Amino acid sequence: MQRLSLLAAVLLPLVAHAESPKVDAEALYQQHCQSCHAPGRLGAQGPALLPESLARLPQKAAVQVIRDGRPATQMPAFAEQLSSTQIDQLAAYLYQPPAEPPHWDKAAIRASHTVFTPRAELPAKPVFKADPLNLFVVVESGNHHINILDGDRFEVITRFPTHYALHGGPKFSPDGRFVFWASRDGWVTQYDLWNLKPVAQIRAGINTRNIASSQDGRYLMVANYLPNSLVVLNAEDLSLNRIIEVKDQQGTPSRVSAVYTAPPRNSFIAALKDVEEIWEIPYDQTDMPLRRIRAGDYLDDFSFDPDYRHLLATSRDSHGGQVIDLDAGKVIKKIPLKGMPHLGSGITWQWQGRPVMATPNIQQGQLSVIALDNWQIIKEIPTEGPGFFLRSHANSPYAWTDVFFGPNQEVVQVIDKANLSVAKTLRPMPGKNAAHVEFDRYGKHVLLSVWDKDGALIIYNADTLEEIKRLPMNKPSGKYNVFNKINYAEGTSH
Ligand code: HEC
Repeated sequence: MQRLSLLAAVLLPLVAHAESPKVDAEALYQQHCQSCHAPGRLGAQGPALLPESLARLPQKAAVQVIRDGRPATQMPAFAEQLSSTQIDQLAAYLYQPPAEPPHWDKAAIRASHTVFTPRAELPAKPVFKADPLNLFVVVESGNHHINILDGDRFEVITRFPTHYALHGGPKFSPDGRFVFWASRDGWVTQYDLWNLKPVAQIRAGINTRNIASSQDGRYLMVANYLPNSLVVLNAEDLSLNRIIEVKDQQGTPSRVSAVYTAPPRNSFIAALKDVEEIWEIPYDQTDMPLRRIRAGDYLDDFSFDPDYRHLLATSRDSHGGQVIDLDAGKVIKKIPLKGMPHLGSGITWQWQGRPVMATPNIQQGQLSVIALDNWQIIKEIPTEGPGFFLRSHANSPYAWTDVFFGPNQEVVQVIDKANLSVAKTLRPMPGKNAAHVEFDRYGKHVLLSVWDKDGALIIYNADTLEEIKRLPMNKPSGKYNVFNKINYAEGTSH
């Protein structure tokens, strides 16, 4: 009896409140938050606060942000104005989808478009002495900045704020002069690396995964979670070209996992998250006719083999990898990889006269090396924990992988590409997460990120593995070398 009434005492108020918290939280949101985060939570001065936007922020962390604010940003602390129950309710509310699915249509996209300086008015000559093809675009994610770095002297040429939370790698115009990046909230920015000036911006979606740029330099394609769309922009000024709604032939809508360019095919390739299809969209045909390829699973990230005939993707449900033949338009092989391979970070090289791809694994401490001529797993190289990124360069004997997850995240491991084993294990800043690396255009230097508030960008000699320089940075994440990117260089992600 006692037990029952106790239960009732705990449960009854919960039941009684079951309908009201949402209303209360909504009212609190409109009163305290919408001025910065927009009435529909789509973001304005502050970022969007929808479940998709907050996917990487645990709800507990959201509670803390609301209570204490974020120092050195516009986000205020609400501990004095709101009770802890109200703060909990508000946080819970942010992780619920809105009653009405958020809209972001043609008119909204067009209204968000700004051209800062038309390309034609910008002189076609770099305003600095450094090699424009050996520049790095370095994303500092801790405080949402980009650094443009001289890739020979390792000095920052300029540094400026970006939209909140850049997502996916920046992409370049074919000559390497213009760079494009996207933010989590769908803002796409074009920047002139020669004049060190922004060219244009537009908001192509509410929640965006990544962008791809066509090899002919004419288009960008934006992959969105919200709305379920692919958006084509004209690269010249970022004006809207077209919106492609993403759904299968039965009308089931889907988020887009990722989009990449396949240069020899003159097409964009997109993997879909909620329907079992891969899409190929040729950008050299004016109406960009869509080609659907059955995938046999929901696909997350992927990469290509060197001639872009095949695509290797991670399957969401069966895990493992699958190979899709883009010419034949079908799955030709399932690769029984354990854990969750991160094939989007897969890199290729020649090993004993054969093309191979190596991929890190976000669940298991191993790198898998797959032969690209028969799709057999040649070797699983044990590492000190699950990894996220893998990088190399045609001129380097080494591939570098991080141990992104788990207790050994301070470690990076250097793999000998010839004998497929760990050549050296580095601990660049003990206790701090060592992550993403990128090579310079010649493969002579490696830039490594220590992903910490008090982190650094560390430059190594790629052959001797000796440290050359350390630049303090706040959570430096990706680094992108102009030459390697515009040449779709071996060893880096596209
Ligand atoms: C004066 C403007 C302003 C107000 C008012 C405001 N915010 Fe924020 N909020 C921001 C900014 C700016 C950021 C991004 C801070 C940063 O750079 O990390 C932010 C970040 C956040 C984040 C973290 C988002 C993420 O992706 O990590 C949450 C959660 C949040 N706000 C919730 C709220 C809630 C709930 C309210 C109302 C109780 C509120 N904010 C009121 C400006 C504001």
